[in-house]
Amino acid sequence: MKIKNICCIGAGYVGGPTMAVIAQKCPEINVTVVDINEERIKAWNDEDVENIPIYEPGLSNVVKEARDRNLFFSTDVDAAIDKADMIFISVNTPTKTYGIGKGMAADLKYIELCARQIARVSKTDKIVVEKSTLPVRTAEALKNILDNTGNGVNYQILSNPEFLAEGTAVDDLMNPDRVLIGGDIDTTEGKKAVDALVDVYAHWVPREKLLTTNVWSSELSKLTANAFLAQRVSSINAMSELCEKTGADVNEVSKAVGMDSRIGSKFLKSSVGFGGSCFQKDILNLVYISKSFGLHEVADYWEQVILMNDHQKRRFAAKIVQTLFNTVSGKKIALLGWAFKKDTNDTRESAAIYVADYLLNEQAEIVVYDPKVKTEQIYADLDYLNTRSSEENKAKVKVVNTAYESAKGAHAIAVLTEWDEFKDLDWEKIYKEMLKPAFLFDGRRLLERSTKEKIGFEFYAIGS
Ligand SMILES: NC(=O)c1ccc[n+]([C@@H]2O[C@H](COP(=O)([O-])OP(=O)(O)OC[C@H]3O[C@@H](n4cnc5c(N)ncnc54)[C@H](O)[C@@H]3O)[C@@H](O)[C@H]2O)c1
Repeated sequence: MKIKNICCIGAGYVGGPTMAVIAQKCPEINVTVVDINEERIKAWNDEDVENIPIYEPGLSNVVKEARDRNLFFSTDVDAAIDKADMIFISVNTPTKTYGIGKGMAADLKYIELCARQIARVSKTDKIVVEKSTLPVRTAEALKNILDNTGNGVNYQILSNPEFLAEGTAVDDLMNPDRVLIGGDIDTTEGKKAVDALVDVYAHWVPREKLLTTNVWSSELSKLTANAFLAQRVSSINAMSELCEKTGADVNEVSKAVGMDSRIGSKFLKSSVGFGGSCFQKDILNLVYISKSFGLHEVADYWEQVILMNDHQKRRFAAKIVQTLFNTVSGKKIALLGWAFKKDTNDTRESAAIYVADYLLNEQAEIVVYDPKVKTEQIYADLDYLNTRSSEENKAKVKVVNTAYESAKGAHAIAVLTEWDEFKDLDWEKIYKEMLKPAFLFDGRRLLERSTKEKIGFEFYAIGS
């Protein structure tokens, strides 16, 4: 079975880049990415390809090549579903903010709405691909909705979780470690559907990296992968606190530990805490699923990864207060970086939001500079916490266009995102702009201590 038309529901951080790469690599397949967010679709179609809504290195070039050739962005969801042989569901699956499972379970309302829409519109057989990260056994619910509310057409449900990392999405999509495809491999129809998706990826991914499993293993593998990655960050962050008490240096510990081939060096960098839309929500989801099966020890084990991360963010902010003579009231603190990591404009669950919130509670004045995040987003992130009124956030937080501007009259600077440009700033100039003593807090282990201390900074770095 050859796929000719793909529809992807959800033009976000996953749907956009993933489909752009599929379209670039499979010129004979028409790929239509749809979204209910009109503004987002308008931005994907912006004449100037640099204005697409998601910043990822290399993405604008891929979009430029494929857009209007075989890659289309549209708000006409029904039309794209109707035409497609294969439909990817790539909508958001945030943590529930209400009702049963509030603050833990994944909110699957967007997924269900997609399933109902597919069932309503479809007149021909479809392969439905779960691209969103979903709780294990969601495919069962999807199948149920599709079969019971549809027009009698046949559906095959595949799980194809996405492992890309923001900031390196295009590279990850072009050269994935593996592509995971879960399907009903024990039936002929299920096998056919899996093969059809394998053929799409085989345009550029070596066959040995295309891993096929049953649906439940595929769904659970994605949650497991994110839990393991986040666990490594929390593990090294736990050690960072111990390093600070003992005179060990977390970077040295991390290097020594990571050179053990059984452990490996990736994801052992200590920081102010992990952020991003996925780690926290997926672990909470895993905790919730475990609890719902009565596996309380399993749930508690994974929950600790989140508790450690919350502690790390709080501890960093508290260190700033404590170092600034136990008060930051009325003091100006510059935050360098707002995105949850470098090379992305995504700020979801960014540590910066929580550090800022903590410092604002201590009555600090905050100035933020980030090379890619828009001012409105920074205020929206703070408002979302509901800690204080929108007006208060606007009054207490200023967003500026350069790091130098942020340093003017500041008591302290905190580096919260590891943007490369922060390494190359003229730190002498920054020092001159600041009040003295000039405090510099490195939440990412990005800066060299000796040169900063030589300039005159009072320097604190996580884990040393
Ligand atoms: N961001 C990542 O790095 C990443 C990596 C791997 C997996 N994931 C998973 O992928 C999924 C999507 O994540 P994302 O970061 O792209 O989210 P996102 O919020 O950036 O994008 C989701 C999009 O879906 C749209 N949408 C929601 N309901 C819709 C509907 N009924 N019809 C049409 N459009 C609809 C929203 O308007 C939004 O633009 C999540 O399940 C996430 O866990 C994300």
